[in-house]
Amino acid sequence: MEKYRSLCILFIALTVQFSTFSYVSAKRTNIFTDQQALLALKAHITHDPTNFLDSNWSASTSICEWSGITCGARHHRVTALDISYLNLTGTIPPQLGNLPFLSILSIRNNSFHGTLPDELAQLRRLEYLDFSFNNFINLEIPSWFGSLTKLRILSLNEITFSGTIPQSLGNLSSLQELILDYNELSGSIPTSIFNISSLQTLSINGNQLSGVIPKNILNWTRLQMFSLYQNKIQGAIPKEIGNLTQLKGMHFGYNQLQGMIYSTLITVAV
Ligand SMILES: *[C@@H]1O[C@H](CO)[C@@H](O)[C@H](O)[C@H]1NC(C)=O
Ligand SMILES: *[C@@H]1O[C@H](CO)[C@@H](O)[C@H](O)[C@H]1NC(C)=O
Ligand SMILES: *[C@@H]1O[C@H](CO)[C@@H](O)[C@H](O)[C@H]1NC(C)=O
Ligand SMILES: *[C@@H]1O[C@H](CO)[C@@H](O)[C@H](O)[C@H]1NC(C)=O
Ligand SMILES: *[C@@H]1O[C@H](CO)[C@@H](O)[C@H](O)[C@H]1NC(C)=O
Ligand SMILES: *[C@@H]1O[C@H](CO)[C@@H](O)[C@H](O)[C@H]1NC(C)=O
Ligand SMILES: *[C@@H]1O[C@H](CO)[C@@H](O)[C@H](O)[C@H]1NC(C)=O
Repeated sequence: MEKYRSLCILFIALTVQFSTFSYVSAKRTNIFTDQQALLALKAHITHDPTNFLDSNWSASTSICEWSGITCGARHHRVTALDISYLNLTGTIPPQLGNLPFLSILSIRNNSFHGTLPDELAQLRRLEYLDFSFNNFINLEIPSWFGSLTKLRILSLNEITFSGTIPQSLGNLSSLQELILDYNELSGSIPTSIFNISSLQTLSINGNQLSGVIPKNILNWTRLQMFSLYQNKIQGAIPKEIGNLTQLKGMHFGYNQLQGMIYSTLITVAV
C-alpha cells in the first residue's frame, strides 16, 4: 500500500512536470527510443575523421557503453551526451529531442551546421548545454531556449548566431553562466536578463550589441563576471555596478562608453 502510494505521488509529480510535449515522450519512451535518437544523430554525421562513431556506437552493444554517453545508474536512461572536440561534420536531427532524461549535452568544437530543431525544446531536464565552436551560420538564437528552465550553463560561443538575444532567456531562472561570445548578435541586452538573480557569469564579447548598460542590475546579486568587450554599447557605466558585491571582473573595452569609473568597482579592464 505504502509503495503504491509513493508510486502514485511519483506519477502525479511526473504528470505535472511533463505537462506539455515531454509528457508524451517520457511516458512512451524507453532505452530503445534513446538508442533510436542516438542512431539518428549518428546517421546525420557526414564526416567522422577519427572513426569515433563507426567503431564505437555499435547497435550490438548497449548505448550506455558507448563512448560519450552516460546513463543514469538507477533508470539506465541517457543522462549525458558529450561529443566535444571530435571534428565531426553533420546536422542535428529532430530525434535528439527524444532523450527525456538528458541533463548534459555538449557538441562543443565540431563542425555541426544547419538548424537547431524545435524538438530540442523537449529536453526539459537539461542543465548544461554547450554548442560552442560549430558552424550554425546565420541562425538566430531560438526562443525555445527559454523553456529549458533547469539550465545552469548555456554556452553558445562562436556559432555565428545573428539577430537579437531573445527575451525568453529571462525565464532561465537557474542560469549561472550565459556565454554568447563572438557571434553577430545585435540589439540591446533584453531587460528580462536583468531578472536572473542566479547569474554568475555573463559574457557577450565580440558582438554588435547596442544600447546602454541599464541601472536596474541590482537583481544580479551573485554576478562575478560581466564581460561585454567589443560591442557598440553606449553611455555611462552605471554606478549600481558597485552594488554587485560578488563581482570580480568586468570587461567593457572597445565600446562607445563614456563617463566616470567609480571607485567602488573592484577589477576593471576598460
Ligand atoms: C567505446 O569506447 C569506450 C571507451 O573507449 C569503451 O569502453 C567501449 O567498450 C567502446 N564500445 C564499443 C562498442 O566499442
Ligand atoms: C581536428 O582537426 C584539426 C585540424 O583540422 C587537427 O589538428 C586535430 O588533430 C583534429 N582533432 C581530432 C580529434 O581529430
Ligand atoms: C577545436 O579543436 C581543434 C582540434 O580538434 C583545435 O585545434 C582548436 O583550437 C579548437 N578550437 C577551440 C576554439 O577550442
Ligand atoms: C518566458 O517569458 C516570457 C516573458 O518574458 C513569456 O511571454 C513566455 O511565455 C515565457 N515562456 C517561454 C517558454 O518562453
Ligand atoms: C522579472 O520578474 C518578475 C517576476 O519574477 C516579472 O513580473 C517581470 O515581468 C520580469 N521582468 C522582465 C523584464 O522580464
Ligand atoms: C528584480 O526582481 C524582482 C522580484 O524579485 C522583480 O520584481 C523586478 O522586476 C526585478 N528587476 C528587474 C530589473 O528585472
Ligand atoms: C548601493 O550602494 C550604495 C553605495 O554603496 C548604497 O548607498 C545603496 O544603498 C546600495 N543600494 C542597494 C539597493 O543595495
